[in-house]
Amino acid sequence: MALLAGAALALPALSARGDQTAPGVTMPASLSPMARLGQMSYTRNCAACHGPQGGGTRQGPPLIHRIYEPSHHADIAFVMAIQRGTRQHHWPFGDMPPQPQVSQDEIDAIIRFVREVQRANGIE
Ligand code: HEC
Repeated sequence: MALLAGAALALPALSARGDQTAPGVTMPASLSPMARLGQMSYTRNCAACHGPQGGGTRQGPPLIHRIYEPSHHADIAFVMAIQRGTRQHHWPFGDMPPQPQVSQDEIDAIIRFVREVQRANGIE
């Protein structure tokens, strides 16, 4: 219990997140055609860890989060994470494995999707 309370204090953004629903994420009223394609690929390749709407899960952090705003994690950070994976550094979820099955076109579309959802949540 003390451990849990400590984790909640250290990561307030995660405290309400016990499952794959993301009550904190507002979806845009509409997505651009490219973002819609990105959403499909995101759902297949990323949602298991980052949540169906990017709100995070027990396996991975939310991408709809200030940490991942464009000025802090530019698009190239997404490209690198997908192609090479990333070591655990911001969160306590472990490493992200590379996702070599995701094509360059899909990467571009996924980034568009994430950016549009970020914008709908005031992250830009
Ligand atoms: C098996 C779980 C898993 C999958 C699948 C996964 N990720 Fe991740 N991802 C993580 C974890 C865990 C981190 C956090 C690493 C840290 O900062 O501690 C992360 C971090 C990231 C980051 C931040 C990288 C950085 O530079 O800090 C981005 C961007 C990202 N993921 C995008 C994606 C996208 C897009 C997909 C789908 C193509 C995806 N991830 C699939 C687990 C996953």
